[in-house]
Amino acid sequence: MKVLDTQFCNGFATMANDSWNLGYHERNGGNFSYRLTDEEVDSVRDDLNFDRPFAEIGTEVPDLAGMFFMFTGSGKFIRWVKEKTAETCCIIEIDETGTKYRIVWGLTEGGRPTSELPTHLMNHQVKMRKTNGAHRVIFHCHPTNVIAMTFVVPLTDAEITRALWESMTECPVIFPDGVGVIPWMSCGGRAIAVETAKKMEHYDAVVWAHHGLFCSADNFDNAIGFAHCVEKSADIYMKVRAVTDHKLQTITKENFLELAKDFGLTINEAFLN
Ligand code: 13P
Ligand code: ZN
Repeated sequence: MKVLDTQFCNGFATMANDSWNLGYHERNGGNFSYRLTDEEVDSVRDDLNFDRPFAEIGTEVPDLAGMFFMFTGSGKFIRWVKEKTAETCCIIEIDETGTKYRIVWGLTEGGRPTSELPTHLMNHQVKMRKTNGAHRVIFHCHPTNVIAMTFVVPLTDAEITRALWESMTECPVIFPDGVGVIPWMSCGGRAIAVETAKKMEHYDAVVWAHHGLFCSADNFDNAIGFAHCVEKSADIYMKVRAVTDHKLQTITKENFLELAKDFGLTINEAFLN
């Protein structure tokens, strides 16, 4: 089977297109990855090419040895992922040491996977373990209001989570664990990957101050849906902040506890006080 005819490739490209249309990706801003199932790898094996050399990942992900991932390419405009998937995206194989990768499909006009390869792969490694293999998608975008929020809310997991939860009732239902935040760091390397992966031990989303958002999910719909929910809440938060720094009323601790009871949620109570 051709990669371009598969459900996973189409799902990947549709997610990219939806995210582009939501305005989350200036130019090449943001990047995505998907961990293929063994069945998916087998189904497209004839369309893969194993001639290219292995290159350094820039970090080590031993649990992912031998696995295959679909990635957006570095510098490729998200706007073109849907129409030009083979030119803008690739499938990579991780070597048996978990320190190298090679491109086995795509990037037909040249290039390499996203510069955030270390963060994506380290996140995959954590989430694969934490979810018994359920999570397969890592989604990174540059949503305006999430970024704006990181200039006016203290950069702690509790403060950012509480600001998001309080801005839209559905938020604690979608992310009862909350979100993590890391202070500004230079992107594209191992250091930010290590810090993000530490947060992914506890949360399914991590805010990068003054940069953007990473989400982890089991499928494409939940990945973009998660980012959409966080960004919408941040939008409401910033609109309220633009008008006043004094809320007349809000969703209270008691309200959150009631919600947790009604929806059967294990809400992160550390963030309620
Ligand atoms: P890439 O084009 O390398 O994916 O970089 C975009 C980005 O968002 C970096 O964080
Ligand atoms: Zn980015």
